[in-house]
Amino acid sequence: MLTHEENELLCRVGPGTPMGEVLRRYWLPVLTTEELPEPDCPPVRAKLLGEELVAFRDSDGNVGLVDNNCPHRRASLFFGRNEESGIRCVYHGWKFNVNGDCVDMPSEPAESNFKDKVKIKSYPCVDKGGTIWTYMGPADLQPPFLNFLALQLPDDHLITNRVLSDCNFIQSMEGNLDTSHISYLHRNLADLKMDDFDDGTDVLGFPSPRMSTRIRGYSRDAKLMVQPTSYGWRYVGQRETPNGHHHLRITTAIFPVYQMIARLPDQGPGILMMVPRDDETCWRWSVGARTDRPFTEEERADRAGQSANKTDIHGRGEKGKWNDYMMSRDDQKNLSFTGIKGIGTQDQAVTESMQPISDKMNEHLGTSDRAIIFNRRILLNAARAMMEGQEPLRHDPDVMGRINSHEEIIPAGDDWRKYGAFAGESEGLPV
Ligand code: FES
Ligand SMILES: [Fe+2]
Repeated sequence: MLTHEENELLCRVGPGTPMGEVLRRYWLPVLTTEELPEPDCPPVRAKLLGEELVAFRDSDGNVGLVDNNCPHRRASLFFGRNEESGIRCVYHGWKFNVNGDCVDMPSEPAESNFKDKVKIKSYPCVDKGGTIWTYMGPADLQPPFLNFLALQLPDDHLITNRVLSDCNFIQSMEGNLDTSHISYLHRNLADLKMDDFDDGTDVLGFPSPRMSTRIRGYSRDAKLMVQPTSYGWRYVGQRETPNGHHHLRITTAIFPVYQMIARLPDQGPGILMMVPRDDETCWRWSVGARTDRPFTEEERADRAGQSANKTDIHGRGEKGKWNDYMMSRDDQKNLSFTGIKGIGTQDQAVTESMQPISDKMNEHLGTSDRAIIFNRRILLNAARAMMEGQEPLRHDPDVMGRINSHEEIIPAGDDWRKYGAFAGESEGLPV
């Protein structure tokens, strides 16, 4: 439960807000690479942390992300001409490069140096893994680019997916920190009939994906425990297995918005990111990864085809609150817990149904909500510190390059924190 003031502090992210400033200290995904497919392609609109922006790819392939509004008389640069190494406003022809410099001002006398005094707001970008990332904070505090395991892989080993969601980013993020819901929201009714299932992998080590599902059905009151780490924190959903062992699903939360969901070793080190578009909408980003080989074209098409919520290039899905996420009451009776297809869409339905900014004053949080409580505390502490001029956690690229999530069956009674960890992981953030 939060107070109204805490909820505001947690959820508001526009320029000048404490949480907005915290998030502006990190690299965030803003567009997919395919939205700017080639040099001098059409500019596109982008919105992040409440700021209206326009992105373009210049003649050399560099990505520019600039203020939507031209600094002359505020016309939108979305209508701009993406010309030889810069975007030109169609109103009076002022032209800007990817660094925000005004490189041409034909409406002023040739001898004028006015153009040297005008800049447009611009943010640096990196194009990596099918995703265009940006940093919106002060230039002198710009951190090194993200070094997640997934981003160390070649681009063709990654698949990026993005869906626009009609709710505040905190709600979406909390869905990933709430392991207990997978025994309900994402349940296929057929899984309830797995009582006799045994493929011999309910033993110490790694269960098969089917056995993992079986265990989640068998034990639906996962014990949730949190461990602070130097990069954020991680938490476990620990369940009893039918053979009396402990099953761990360990998710890592890398401050402030990056999460690696529990996974078996042969599932790639993907990343989920719930990133605010503004206070009432967010982007649900997922970067899927394969370590062994590139994704094939079929796999890419397949992923896109059965993606949680098939989207257009702007991330708008075919399912949403306007069509009740294409829920089928028949399917709900016979097939799945929700009658909604797609895990991500099921998440979207419940998180968006809480209203754009959920009323956290009237919640009743229990032991299964420990990770959510912890996450709020860390974010609120960072926002309050920011109000006092203290900068948030600065990631060590070396540490970031080793962070991983984990899933394993361990002897009952063993300490979960030993598993999937690396040296130095246990020294956490102050909470
Ligand atoms: S408003 Fe853009 S050049 Fe005048
Ligand atoms: Fe979920």
